[in-house]
Amino acid sequence: MGKNVIIACDFSSREETLSFLDKMGKARPYVKIGMELFYAAGPDMVRELKDRGHQVFLDLKLHDIPHTVQRAMAVLSRLGADILNLHAAGTRDMMEAALEGALRPDGSRPLLIAVTQLTSTSEERMQKELLIDATLPETVTAYAQNARLAGLDGVVCSPLEAGLIHSACGSDFLTVTPGVRFADGSLDDQVRVATPERAKTLGSDYIVVGRPITQSADPLSAWQRCVREFVD
Ligand code: C5P
Repeated sequence: MGKNVIIACDFSSREETLSFLDKMGKARPYVKIGMELFYAAGPDMVRELKDRGHQVFLDLKLHDIPHTVQRAMAVLSRLGADILNLHAAGTRDMMEAALEGALRPDGSRPLLIAVTQLTSTSEERMQKELLIDATLPETVTAYAQNARLAGLDGVVCSPLEAGLIHSACGSDFLTVTPGVRFADGSLDDQVRVATPERAKTLGSDYIVVGRPITQSADPLSAWQRCVREFVD
């Protein structure tokens, strides 16, 4: 599986998204559609970006009873998304059901990856509010191992956790990592960040980059810089 840079298209409309992508010229970068854009623009956004030649990570983080997740995954998978995701907290039963749902009639399926603990959750909150009596790295590792046992392809995690995940789950278990910033750029609200080059050294398989590209005056050059540092 080759390394890739995924642009987080955190826009609130189809028009904004397409006008951003038009700035990329002939390039067809891998894109991520999150909740905001999906809820605003609907399933047609996925079909349209696929038709334009993009690969699509549909980041909707499903978490419900296994039957419901299975049926929802069947719908999302048929939109043509290349990566789908869910919360590992839904347990292995839910992840196995999701995997079954994601299988298309022609036998193909998107990659299915899990969110372990959100990076916005601190160890203190996790222990006090969620009553999880373990450290954050222990929890992240255990959830990733559950995802692996359920047959999933990888997890979303910080680039700083990519090594930990690969040693617990194997080098072929994908790490898809947000929290990427250029050495000379703004951090925005991200705290634990890595440059594309460092994410590569740490073993990330895919980096997810939003504002450093979407808010850049020259998004094509910013994306090309990410590709140069992370992939080439
Ligand atoms: O703009 P920025 O590069 O910070 O965007 C990162 C993207 O990755 C956003 O879409 C954000 O929601 C997502 N993400 C994240 N941290 C996580 C999971 C997802 O930043 N732990």
